Amino acid sequence: MRVLHYFLVLSLVPYLTASFSPYGILRNASIKLPFDLNNDTGYTIETVSCNQCLCHAAHNPVVALFTCIRHEMSNFTCQMYYFIPKRDEIEYPNYDADVYLMRPNSTFEEKDDCCNTTMLIEEITRMLQNTSISTEEFLTLSEGENNTILAVTSCSKLEQNALLRFNRFTGENIFVEHTSSLLSAGYYKERYYFGTIAKNIGVYNSSMRPRLCLVDTSVEIRTIRFLKKTQKMLAGASGSGIYLCDIVPNSGILNNCTIIPNIAPGEELHAIGVAQDEMAFYVGWNADGQDIHLYRRQPNDTWVTDASGKIDHSAPTTDLVVDNCQRIWAVEPRSDRIRIYHRNNTLLGEMNVGGTNLFNLMIMENYTIFITHQSADGLRAIRPSLNCRPVP
Ligand SMILES: *[C@@H]1O[C@H](CO)[C@@H](O)[C@H](O)[C@H]1NC(C)=O
Ligand SMILES: *[C@@H]1O[C@H](CO)[C@@H](O)[C@H](O)[C@H]1NC(C)=O
Ligand SMILES: *[C@@H]1O[C@H](CO)[C@@H](O)[C@H](O)[C@H]1NC(C)=O
Ligand SMILES: *[C@@H]1O[C@H](CO)[C@@H](O)[C@H](O)[C@H]1NC(C)=O
Ligand SMILES: *[C@@H]1O[C@H](CO)[C@@H](O)[C@H](O)[C@H]1NC(C)=O
Ligand SMILES: *[C@@H]1O[C@H](CO)[C@@H](O)[C@H](O)[C@H]1NC(C)=O
Ligand SMILES: *[C@@H]1O[C@H](CO)[C@@H](O)[C@H](O)[C@H]1NC(C)=O
Ligand SMILES: *[C@@H]1O[C@H](CO)[C@@H](O)[C@H](O)[C@H]1NC(C)=O
Ligand SMILES: *[C@@H]1O[C@H](CO)[C@@H](O)[C@H](O)[C@H]1NC(C)=O
Ligand SMILES: *[C@@H]1O[C@H](CO)[C@@H](O)[C@H](O)[C@H]1NC(C)=O
Ligand SMILES: *[C@@H]1O[C@H](CO)[C@@H](O)[C@H](O)[C@H]1NC(C)=O
Ligand SMILES: *[C@@H]1O[C@H](CO)[C@@H](O)[C@H](O)[C@H]1NC(C)=O
Repeated sequence: MRVLHYFLVLSLVPYLTASFSPYGILRNASIKLPFDLNNDTGYTIETVSCNQCLCHAAHNPVVALFTCIRHEMSNFTCQMYYFIPKRDEIEYPNYDADVYLMRPNSTFEEKDDCCNTTMLIEEITRMLQNTSISTEEFLTLSEGENNTILAVTSCSKLEQNALLRFNRFTGENIFVEHTSSLLSAGYYKERYYFGTIAKNIGVYNSSMRPRLCLVDTSVEIRTIRFLKKTQKMLAGASGSGIYLCDIVPNSGILNNCTIIPNIAPGEELHAIGVAQDEMAFYVGWNADGQDIHLYRRQPNDTWVTDASGKIDHSAPTTDLVVDNCQRIWAVEPRSDRIRIYHRNNTLLGEMNVGGTNLFNLMIMENYTIFITHQSADGLRAIRPSLNCRPVP
């Protein structure tokens, strides 16, 4: 976490030179915290001038800073704070208020600008040690219920591929009813969706029985993602394309399944990264020279792709995530590298995460990152020490 020292602020604003104490003022700024603080954290006074508040605060060593707000009646309200707010809690500009700083040597803690890719990669790569959660070989990774993550194992006998479930804060393995022959898994609104080696998608509740629905796809489903706002499931298939199904509310049953044409026929489609607004998604193939393509939703509810929005990324891609800074994270299985792109096709940065046969990626709050490897490097959690600023 970064810290911004007062003197940086003070160098930008005039000192109050009337006294020898180096009080500072932030002009036209206020603090985005509610006024009804309890009396352990501050209090409010009404005065006829900001200087009167300054006198008042100077005689109370507990006051760390205060805001002075002008009213139309040419009187003032001062909010005294016993603590230093976060840098991000200061609101600029606010033309009827000033912030007075009473402790020149204390520091503003600043939240991290996680949309700064350089800083983000630095912080993530500092934490690549001691990340192991499981040493099973894994195929797919997805979000589960109750703060869990789901991962499908990759066995030499495919019928032994099973679902494992982990607590995403502790990494603890949580028991899940036995399920086998899986290639992919997803979870949405209390239902599990499984792509199996029998070339179908089954839907289950958390008891795993009975099966609620079975959709025959005649191809292997390699990835399952959800369009939550419109209650749809996207499934990436080897060879034939992208399945798009409606999810019947409450039951979770799949309905109206259609195929969005695959523009790389014959290749394995593992990577689907849904944009935050869910009006578009990116697709990547586990094959050389395919690039990352953008599919956009049309007003008539069909999905189309063309050369626009394409990301030039010729390496095989096994996963794609669009983060809330709208960056596209592309997982390269052969080089164990993640590349991060701006949606205008600019490469913003890349990092080698170590291990072998990198496969899937999940990004959680404050850029805690889960990755799977199709090797004994298994499942890893990388936990950078970040406190991310809200995205504007
Ligand atoms: C503060 O706001 C006033 C009135 O809008 C303006 O005249 C003044 O230049 C501003 N001061 C700073 C430091 O921005
Ligand atoms: C703070 O408020 C509580 C309840 O409102 C009161 O009992 C207490 O005396 C107050 N403390 C001070 C220092 O004013
Ligand atoms: C100052 O002005 C505000 C808003 O106009 C009013 O609510 C408040 O009672 C006034 N306080 C004093 C001490 O005059
Ligand atoms: C405040 O900082 C100044 C200059 O860095 C230093 O000389 C002084 O001792 C500090 N005061 C306190 C109370 O830490
Ligand atoms: C992004 O972070 C890097 C490394 O911490 C820093 O040098 C750079 O100034 C930051 N860029 C912006 C725009 O803040
Ligand atoms: C990783 O864990 C081992 C054993 O728990 C410990 O000795 C080592 O210092 C840790 N390394 C880092 C970089 O935290
Ligand atoms: C998830 O949490 C809810 C509420 O605590 C509980 O009813 C449910 O059984 C949990 N599901 C699983 C699979 O643990
Ligand atoms: C799953 O469905 C079965 C059959 O409808 C039901 O008996 C069971 O209670 C359900 N389990 C959960 C956790 O909802
Ligand atoms: C299936 O499609 C029909 C016709 O477009 C639509 O009316 C219906 O709501 C869809 N089913 C679901 C579960 O969305
Ligand atoms: C939907 O719209 C797209 C372009 O906006 C068009 O190419 C396509 O033919 C339309 N499909 C249907 C079924 O109307
Ligand atoms: C893409 O966006 C980045 C970051 O905003 C910018 O630096 C770059 O110039 C843009 N490139 C193009 C081709 O628009
Ligand atoms: C991000 O990290 C900070 C500092 O550890 C924590 O206070 C905050 O709750 C975290 N945010 C989320 C959404 O977990």
